[in-house]
Amino acid sequence: MRTRFTDLVGVAKPLMQGGMQWLGHAELAAAVSNAGGLGLVTALTQPTPEALHAELRRCHELTDKPLGINLTTLPTITPPPYDEYRDAALDAGIDVVETSGSDPTPAVPVYRAAGVKVVHKATSVKHAVKAARAGVDAIVVDGFECAGHPGEEDVPGLVLLPAVVDALRAASEERDVDPPVVLAAGGYADGRGLAAALALGADGVVMGTRFMATTEARLHPRVKQALLDHDEHGTTLIFRELGNTARVARNGVAEHVAALTRGGADFSGVRDLVAGSRGRTVYETGDLEAGIWWAGLAQALIHDVPSCADLLDRIVEEARGLIEGRLHRMASPA
Ligand SMILES: Cc1cc2nc3c(=O)[nH]c(=O)nc-3n(C[C@H](O)[C@H](O)[C@H](O)COP(=O)(O)O)c2cc1C
Repeated sequence: MRTRFTDLVGVAKPLMQGGMQWLGHAELAAAVSNAGGLGLVTALTQPTPEALHAELRRCHELTDKPLGINLTTLPTITPPPYDEYRDAALDAGIDVVETSGSDPTPAVPVYRAAGVKVVHKATSVKHAVKAARAGVDAIVVDGFECAGHPGEEDVPGLVLLPAVVDALRAASEERDVDPPVVLAAGGYADGRGLAAALALGADGVVMGTRFMATTEARLHPRVKQALLDHDEHGTTLIFRELGNTARVARNGVAEHVAALTRGGADFSGVRDLVAGSRGRTVYETGDLEAGIWWAGLAQALIHDVPSCADLLDRIVEEARGLIEGRLHRMASPA
């Protein structure tokens, strides 16, 4: 398959692995890149910028294909040294950065100067247009179905994606430039989703939840089994009242946190329950109730634990089969 995304980053398949806190290690990123997609090492999963540098060097030993990082920047009281993480990644060598969490405008010229493509994740039309004006190369449109932070507007991908595509086209025409590449995210897990995303105007698909259930994801087998067992009801939205909505796997802790904030608790009232270290414990020990852990609605579409290579081959073949077969037949005159 050839799309504006595959041309932009030099990969064979229009599929990217999104940032995945605690799971975006070298093995997973390299497996996705070796499978023909674009793998990302999640910068803040590493405890220090030096550790990120070492992880990227390790990743380069596992693959000679294009490679990226996710650097999520959030306005926190004691932020990690974001610029040092960025510089460590640039020094180790990356082709792509996925930025998320904040306005990418200040970061774009720095990455540009280093020859790195900037892919920014947006959850609203407004933020997508703003990122395009900042000059990013590609925009990930994360619909309400996604794991992680879907924003506060609750617009699912079926509407958000084409709305972003239209708005980007209009904004680009005004400035007489090409619109950025668009990637669809949130709820994608198979070839049907890829074909649908391409039909809606995307140049490819980003997946997070689906990559959790792969042989290369460093995740306890009990968590992978939970992803197979869960259906479309397997998530809970937390932090709604705090204006920082997050979609996580449904468990007792998530339900408790949602109830506490509905009852008026602020972040300090739930901080201990939602600590990132507890989420990491879930992934490492398989204790599904140890804390909050990320997962999206795509769980409903996950029924096995393939290798990334098998998964990506299957998704592309299924999408191609749909486009050339069922859709082509239905579009042909009777
Ligand atoms: C385990 C996990 C951890 C994630 N961590 C991050 C993160 O640190 N930064 C980020 O921007 N997105 C993060 N995401 C969101 C993904 O990059 C992606 O946008 C999302 O998973 C797409 O929706 P899907 O899960 O339905 O495929 C995470 C997703 C998962 C499943």
